[in-house]
Amino acid sequence: MAYQDILDGIYNEVIQIENTGKVADYIPELAKVDANKFGIALVDKHQNVFTKGDALEKFSIQSISKVITTSLIFSKIGNDLWERVGYEPSGNSFNSLVQLENENGIPRNPFINAGALVIADLMLDHFENPKKFLLDFVRDLTENPNINYNENVAQSEKAFGYRNAALVNFIKSFGNIKNEPEAVLDFYYHQCSIEMTCVDLAKCFQVFSNNGVIPKSDKKFLSTSKCKRMNALMQMCGFYDQAGEFTFKVGLPGKSGVGGGVVAVFPNHYTVAVWSPKLNKKGNSFYGLETLERLTTETSLSIF
Ligand code: DON
Repeated sequence: MAYQDILDGIYNEVIQIENTGKVADYIPELAKVDANKFGIALVDKHQNVFTKGDALEKFSIQSISKVITTSLIFSKIGNDLWERVGYEPSGNSFNSLVQLENENGIPRNPFINAGALVIADLMLDHFENPKKFLLDFVRDLTENPNINYNENVAQSEKAFGYRNAALVNFIKSFGNIKNEPEAVLDFYYHQCSIEMTCVDLAKCFQVFSNNGVIPKSDKKFLSTSKCKRMNALMQMCGFYDQAGEFTFKVGLPGKSGVGGGVVAVFPNHYTVAVWSPKLNKKGNSFYGLETLERLTTETSLSIF
């Protein structure tokens, strides 16, 4: 497949579309980004890397980190995970509180904020130094030892994180958070503040397109069944209340973040990451979705 030509063509098409999105500003530090950045990176199953635009500039991965923490906990505790968090799409926005009361503090899935906070709680229970463990793991997956947390972004979110504070306290009132809310939030804000480039991100998700095997070390991190389930979660829940539309238009498992990143996984073919900070009304990158829709349409290939 002539991926470079395809990326070049798509980039040139998408950049001409009027971008009606808006940069996330509820985390003040994120609002400082150059709104016109636009990068794409695709890594194929032989680890060939194809890039276009600002693919080598770092950005805040935000909610994309939820896939990584969930996979760590899933690999560690297996199906016990589903007693703490569900695996159904929520049909609600990423930071919604509304379902939790009726559902006794069990979040619908690990990718909405409520679910990711329960996963953060589990990270504190299952790893001695969870911040270091997560960073080392991400450095391994990306093959980049320079990946880091952005302390300014983490502190900026903490200063205005009233909704996440409400979520974690509400879930704790049902007994589904074991640690102190402060500690859970601190870990969660740090995981969201991880920065990487489109190339790093596409490499990071290769484990999900490669049957749970980390390509560089050939280590089987997730069983084939667990890898299938991670991709299923991304397909059903990766774009919150736009997950249906993403499946309808793109047809790949994927995950978005409010930093403007989107990553998608085509099992046994490629991973692709797009970064463009302006978000649509559902909190997903406007150009990111335009790009990926064109990618699966123009290659005539998707999981469907
Ligand atoms: O908790 C938050 O609101 C952010 N740290 C992450 C949200 C996010 O990325 C939603 N994704 N589209």
